[in-house]
Amino acid sequence: MSPVVVLVGPMGVGKSTVGRLLAERLATGYRDTDDDIVAEQGRAIAEIFVDEGEAAFRAIEKAAVSRALAQHDGILALGGGSILDEDTRALLAGQRVLYLSMDVEEAVKRTGLNAARPLLAVNPRKQWRELMEARRHLYESIATAVVATDGRTPEEVTDIALDAL
Ligand code: S3P
Repeated sequence: MSPVVVLVGPMGVGKSTVGRLLAERLATGYRDTDDDIVAEQGRAIAEIFVDEGEAAFRAIEKAAVSRALAQHDGILALGGGSILDEDTRALLAGQRVLYLSMDVEEAVKRTGLNAARPLLAVNPRKQWRELMEARRHLYESIATAVVATDGRTPEEVTDIALDAL
């Protein structure tokens, strides 16, 4: 079993909204590795970050991605930072991977000061700039299709994605 499409991209870009729309349009299921992790661990992702740190979270995430890839045959959304892990990136080889992108200003606008997102608790614009610089090339390295979401509604992004896939 293998997902129809794996969705990657920064937090707040709309992976879950677009993922659900894509699942509807393709008459298939939607799954999100963040949800899997919360269900499995019985605690919020922010708590895992605080309790155990980012490295431990990435290891938990890698296992969750591996499991979901093996079990799910619909749309699969990954956490925004999952691609930081080399092994996780390797798991995506041969998959159809859709990268939803946005620029820094769009990211700041969308996520604002959302303390539930542990990586953006302080100085979000600077954090976003650094985050995008560190991650953009990693998203691009594994993507088989890219859709820019800036200024677009989830429905528009979904339509463009369906053409691009
Ligand atoms: C993270 C993104 C989050 C979540 C965690 C870390 C990141 O997922 O996995 O807070 O490092 O970018 P979403 O992209 O689904 O918000």
